[in-house]
Amino acid sequence: MTSALPALGDLPVDPGTGVLVRVDFNVPLAGGEVVDDTRIRAALPTVALLRERGARVVICSHLGRPRGHRVPELSLEPAAARLAELLEAEVVFAHDTVGEDVEDLAEDLPSGGVMVVENLRFHPGEQENDPEFVARLARLGRFYVNDAFAAMHRPEASIVGVPACAEAVAVGLLVEKEVAALSRLLQGPDRPFVVIIGGAKVSDKITVIDSLARRCDAILVGGAMAYTFLAAQNRKVGRSRVEADRTLLARRLMERCAERGVTVYLPVDHVAASAPNAEPEVVREIPDGHIGYDIGPETAARYAEVVGRAGTVFWNGPMGMFEQPSFEAGTRAVAEALANSSACTVVGGGDSVAAVTRFGVADRVSHISTGGGASLEYLEGRELPGLKALRKRST
Ligand code: 3PG
Repeated sequence: MTSALPALGDLPVDPGTGVLVRVDFNVPLAGGEVVDDTRIRAALPTVALLRERGARVVICSHLGRPRGHRVPELSLEPAAARLAELLEAEVVFAHDTVGEDVEDLAEDLPSGGVMVVENLRFHPGEQENDPEFVARLARLGRFYVNDAFAAMHRPEASIVGVPACAEAVAVGLLVEKEVAALSRLLQGPDRPFVVIIGGAKVSDKITVIDSLARRCDAILVGGAMAYTFLAAQNRKVGRSRVEADRTLLARRLMERCAERGVTVYLPVDHVAASAPNAEPEVVREIPDGHIGYDIGPETAARYAEVVGRAGTVFWNGPMGMFEQPSFEAGTRAVAEALANSSACTVVGGGDSVAAVTRFGVADRVSHISTGGGASLEYLEGRELPGLKALRKRST
């Protein structure tokens, strides 16, 4: 049996206690502004609770992949500014991540004060989980809270190093919520349990599909990866993107699903064109020279009907190139089917989350996971390094 995760409510925070909070503010930026603040909003409940209890809150995160170098475009300063707007409070920004100056700024925070330190990955020690970097980070707070669900699969200093040496540790409220929602998919989901998988590549998702195929009743496949599955059945896919080296894998997966009694639905029609900007056509077989960019209307209606009968739905990956209006209908239909369903509905992965937001149904699904890779690894049944590090402290 795995031990419980240490809860935030049990952390003995008194006014003035320094708490280092690892969040995932790996958010899209454009022109020095945060374009999508979902991940910043998701961290607010934990920050608010710590402030209410009078903690001095020191926030750290990675942003992008600067690989141990200071990359000005990947500064966390815009994220800190957005956090200040959302909290309607002052947020101090430290222009470095660790060091005496940063420690002094942390010490000087008033009770309930908030500070964001610079991008963890500007230091090579973060991704190397270097003990010296861990020790310097740990000096920024007496206690440690991890609310970075989307980074829990990374064995980095701030995720696995600091929790091993902080005086006391806890999971943040977002992590608690994510784990509750995703573990429900693994343990006793209401049936039928329907998994919708889309996106570009089979290779990225084959392990999670295999894991979910052991637990679900039906899998609906869409997006570019559907063409690899169709090619595995010797169907005509025109010039659509096919991972030729994965067709065997796709065929085996469909065979295993058949043995387990899991129904795999593949598109029966498509919206195809000779190029993204050419006139789209609805076709049942993709002609030579054409590329499939979306599932067709009959497939969309079929998928919506399956979702309508489900007890639990997990959706990862769009059905087509939904960023373009002529190819958005399939993804929109799935998003709306989830919104209209009374099932427990969980959406994970950047593109499908962007889709539910774009189609205005984000508040009508049961849970939107902030994790991309982390949610998929969790659903593969793997123990995430960050959760393991925290669990170790509660035994
Ligand atoms: C994510 O966006 O999935 C997380 O922030 C992890 O980012 P990474 O893949 O750069 O480690």
